[in-house]
Amino acid sequence: MTRTTVALRAGFALFLVFLLAGLRGPSVQAQVSIRQQWQASPHARSMDTPEERERMNTAGCARCHTAQGYQHEILAGLESAAPYPEATGLTCMACHAEGEGRRRVGPIRAGAARDACRGCHDELVTNRPNSLSWCSQWGIFEGTGGRAQTTSASAHSQMENGCITCHMAPAGDGTDPSLVGGHTFRVKTKGDLPRAFNAGSCLSCHKIMTGEILADSQAQLQELLDELGAMLPQRPDPEDPSRTVPRFPADPSLSALQARASHNYWLVEKDGSLGVHNPGYTRNLLLETIGELKTGEPDLAEKIAAESSGR
Ligand code: HEC
Ligand code: HEC
Ligand code: HEC
Ligand code: HEC
Ligand code: HEC
Repeated sequence: MTRTTVALRAGFALFLVFLLAGLRGPSVQAQVSIRQQWQASPHARSMDTPEERERMNTAGCARCHTAQGYQHEILAGLESAAPYPEATGLTCMACHAEGEGRRRVGPIRAGAARDACRGCHDELVTNRPNSLSWCSQWGIFEGTGGRAQTTSASAHSQMENGCITCHMAPAGDGTDPSLVGGHTFRVKTKGDLPRAFNAGSCLSCHKIMTGEILADSQAQLQELLDELGAMLPQRPDPEDPSRTVPRFPADPSLSALQARASHNYWLVEKDGSLGVHNPGYTRNLLLETIGELKTGEPDLAEKIAAESSGR
């Protein structure tokens, strides 16, 4: 063997080692840039179409759907000045300050990492008899959003960095970083996307956590939620008129107790995690509400029956 072949072989072996390491290690992460992750994330879609650019750049919507509204209204706490000139959706600069020197993005504008998501994932947006939109994650997470005695934080709420601990953890081994983790802001995919679940962050506390364990826990919670939903007077589902859903909290036909129960139902439904954000609280809130409906208004079942037959 000549020297060159030895050198070439050694070089090739090294290349292989790098290639294999690259396939499993953090360099896969590096191959999917933050920008690509963000592009695949829901935040990149907040002002996708010309209609949305017009609709979202208005007082009432701009504070969560545009970078300018978020900074002016939520972070600075000022009155809405929408429409904002040259408004953008939730780009890098929505969440990050301008970078210094060659860095394009600086630290997050919200200050503490724990507050990075709260501003927009916190509030009731509309509550009318015929429409309801709500981003209720923070209220569940902190255990303060319900109308009930139950208030409790969980081990999940106590995580120092809050939401981002699970939602922005680097994609673990064997998971696709263009689908979950980091700046995709997703823990798990749903809908048309290929199945992926980033359990990496869970494993610092849970001995095991798999998609099946998660699904089991969510299914149990869904059962309780359905039980509560079935106890409430129904209305047509605005998204699918062939189905019905519990009436919204602002529906004037609800009793005070039912309106409270409806608030709790929709708080949990719109949270989207089926208990994960605060397992003990979500369960107790549903149990307490179901119990109240059973004992607080003994004739409720008859009322519901009378109402449904009257429609
Ligand atoms: C307090 C912040 C906030 C305000 C104010 C707000 N939104 Fe949203 N909006 C969100 C969040 C957060 C989501 C994602 C919610 C989720 O899935 O839990 C969302 C989701 C949506 C979606 C669904 C997007 C999709 O691709 O499915 C639409 C449509 C929407 N908002 C329209 C509006 C309109 C119109 C207004 C003004 C009347 C408005 N929003 C005001 C925070 C807000
Ligand atoms: C919805 C808010 C949000 C958006 C949009 C966003 N980021 Fe971030 N970014 C964060 C948060 C939160 C962190 C974590 C900060 C911490 O740990 O203190 C972070 C961290 C980072 C970091 C340092 C950590 C790392 O992962 O290397 C960089 C660099 C970064 N972002 C770049 C970007 C770029 C580039 C974009 C646009 C393509 C972007 N971000 C869009 C919220 C956001
Ligand atoms: C400036 C407001 C804002 C901030 C800050 C923000 N979000 Fe969002 N988020 C939104 C809006 C608006 C949507 C809906 C976008 C759409 O689909 O049009 C959304 C959607 C999402 C979704 C998808 C929900 C669904 O039903 O598909 C997830 C997950 C999410 N955000 C997580 C986070 C996390 C984690 C953070 C903190 C790092 C964060 N968001 C910070 C406004 C915000
Ligand atoms: C313990 C880990 C964990 C923490 C902490 C956490 N989440 Fe989640 N989140 C999840 C999981 C798991 C889901 C369920 C995903 C699924 O089943 O599709 C979820 C669902 C969601 C959804 C609905 C996503 C969708 O696709 O419908 C949003 C939005 C969201 N979380 C935002 C937040 C915000 C905001 C915070 C902080 C207040 C937070 N999460 C804290 C794990 C977490
Ligand atoms: C900081 C530690 C910690 C992390 C990280 C963590 N968990 Fe947990 N989790 C706990 C503890 C402790 C409990 C027990 C109940 C409680 O305190 O709410 C729990 C309870 C749960 C439950 C309810 C269990 C049941 O029997 O219904 C689910 C589901 C869950 N976690 C899912 C997750 C997922 C998914 C992740 C990652 C995305 C995660 N957790 C990350 C500490 C953690």
